[in-house]
Amino acid sequence: MLARKAILNLKPYKPGKPIEEVKRELGLRDVIKMASNENPLGPSPKALAAIKKHLADINRYPESGCFYLRQALSKRLKVMPNQLIFGNGSDELIILALRAFVGEGDEVVVAAPTFLIYEIASQVQGAKIKKVPTRYFKYDLKAMSQAVTKNTKIVFIANPDNPNSTYVARHELEAFLKDLPESVIVFIDEAYFDFVAEKDYPNGMDYVSRNKVIATRSFSKSYGLAGLRIGYGVSDPDIIKCMDSVREPFNVNLLAQVAACAALKDKKFLAKTKRVIEAGRGFFYSEFKKLGLRYIPSVTNFVLFEVGKNADQVSKRLLKKGVIVRNMKAWGMDTFIRVTVGKEKENRRFIKELKKAIA
Ligand SMILES: Cc1ncc(COP(=O)(O)O)c(C=O)c1O
Repeated sequence: MLARKAILNLKPYKPGKPIEEVKRELGLRDVIKMASNENPLGPSPKALAAIKKHLADINRYPESGCFYLRQALSKRLKVMPNQLIFGNGSDELIILALRAFVGEGDEVVVAAPTFLIYEIASQVQGAKIKKVPTRYFKYDLKAMSQAVTKNTKIVFIANPDNPNSTYVARHELEAFLKDLPESVIVFIDEAYFDFVAEKDYPNGMDYVSRNKVIATRSFSKSYGLAGLRIGYGVSDPDIIKCMDSVREPFNVNLLAQVAACAALKDKKFLAKTKRVIEAGRGFFYSEFKKLGLRYIPSVTNFVLFEVGKNADQVSKRLLKKGVIVRNMKAWGMDTFIRVTVGKEKENRRFIKELKKAIA
């Protein structure tokens, strides 16, 4: 066998089905996707205008260090430019952190369930993965702290989490960081940061200068740039330097860079997105209640709800009607479905089809 031992038992990540694929496979014309926590409003209009303006520049390589975006974020987040790193989606920052700090036999601690990339990318490194069950759909940071050993290199905290849609509160995070050995890196993944309005939700950026914390954010969700793939991470300059040394040059494409710079200024779009998500969540809650379906109150742009033993069948029935939702089998949550908040019309269509699918 030519492949490295570490990757032999790897279960590749299965993304939500793309709209075009479903249209093609099922012969459908009108398909809506509520499966990958994307922004239903499209991309930020300011980002779109910037992309159009720079389309003819793509014969050139992009700036490898994302100069303008680095300047803009350094100012906004009040961090030094050398505390920032950019990725081809915030996904890539997970991979860079693991590549830089985790080798064969090292340990990483993750929650179960959580975002699947932590486990898959750790496996690629040959790491030993310690999974700590969530309690009532929330991270159990005390138990995660107990799972840390002298071999632990990284603890992953998605805050808020996907698929749980819950968050770690400030006092919980601070107690956890206080107890942690200095040598352990805490990766705080804030892909859904912009959607959280709760007062006790901690801002990961507050910890990046004091602890070995890497905090990451994404342009995919709140700014609607998932297809361009861009995210950023903030940490101590020494940690960033290590991650940067294992980064491919030009990992963030030219259009993504200009779009992200413009999106940051698009306050109107961000505010509208937040309003739509909040209203959509509220609509789902009231409809789930009417249907007698249990759901997990969410601080994100998606809601996890329990259908029962036939959840897989229900998601397949929805698919046949052109509504793509996320079946939770890959997370071992066989009775659940995860639905991303869509536009009002999409939310109504989803509920209408759900009623038929569970009948
Ligand atoms: C918790 C979490 N982290 C990171 C990501 C990756 O986002 P990006 O598109 O920035 O790679 C996702 C995407 O769904 C996510 O749910």
